[in-house]
Amino acid sequence: MTSNRVEGSLDLQQQVEILKQQLGQAQRLTALGELVSTTTHEFNNVLMTILNYAKMGMRHKDAPTRDKCFEKILASANRAATITNTVLGMARNRTAAQEPTDLVKLVDDTLLLLEREMNKYRVVVERSYQPIPSANVNGNQIQQVLLNLLINARQAMPNGGRLWVRLLHDAENNMVDLVIRDSGCGIPADKLPRIFESFYTTKKGPDASGKGGTGLGLSMCRDIIEAHHGRIRVDSTVGKGTAFTLKLPVAAKPAPKSPTVAPFAPVAATPFGQPVVSPTGR
Ligand SMILES: Nc1ncnc2c1ncn2[C@@H]1O[C@H](COP(=O)(O)OP(=O)(O)OP(=O)(O)O)[C@@H](O)[C@H]1O
Ligand SMILES: [Mg+2]
Repeated sequence: MTSNRVEGSLDLQQQVEILKQQLGQAQRLTALGELVSTTTHEFNNVLMTILNYAKMGMRHKDAPTRDKCFEKILASANRAATITNTVLGMARNRTAAQEPTDLVKLVDDTLLLLEREMNKYRVVVERSYQPIPSANVNGNQIQQVLLNLLINARQAMPNGGRLWVRLLHDAENNMVDLVIRDSGCGIPADKLPRIFESFYTTKKGPDASGKGGTGLGLSMCRDIIEAHHGRIRVDSTVGKGTAFTLKLPVAAKPAPKSPTVAPFAPVAATPFGQPVVSPTGR
């Protein structure tokens, strides 16, 4: 009897594990679907720019105007290439491998995908990047985290607002900090501890852009950051806004040539606790 119960509970645990994996897969596909719909609009915009400047170049025969048109066409084509590469990268890459990654490029590429959407909802994006070392991350996964945080921020500002994106080097803890702060509605102190729970949402289904409402975004963010031995924390004040801070480990430097130099200490040794939630101004 007892052993049956133990076997039964083990089965249940295994089933929960399998369901969790399937949930993660479904969430990844949802994120990809949202990304495809966002980027299709963005891509169309870029194509319009290319078409318009090509027509302008055909109409005006003088060299300065044509040069300007070619520059615009080139810039737009590069933008289009970034957009398709990002989507293809996310669709193809299913590995969880973590490697030294330039977070400035990753953040800029992600913001580029949402540029049109941010303009549409009158969200002004301000970036401030300190010099930072490479971080040891899985680029696709961190991009998924970023997309959810940026879309959450945008949805918290239905009448427009400001979004600050900062990158900092926390040399003391050997981490790179990525801060996403919005001037949106904020989260009440009693709701704050619940936001990382699976299926916790205050949204009534997808919005006009087809995004949000399952309540899986932040729980996925937490799982991904945990898998990176990083941290996620939130500070929020109702009526003022919300800031999410991600702490991600700096990539280990290549082994030093001189044997007298001590090697880098592993960052992953620090145990990861629960995500930190703190209502500001209390
Ligand atoms: N920047 C923010 N400002 C205000 N509230 C937020 C913010 N980010 C998250 N929240 C709150 O936390 C809840 C959970 O967020 P989460 O991203 O997990 O789910 P969701 O956005 O509702 O749905 P989805 O699964 O599509 O992401 C949101 O419904 C919202 O109430
Ligand atoms: Mg969300």
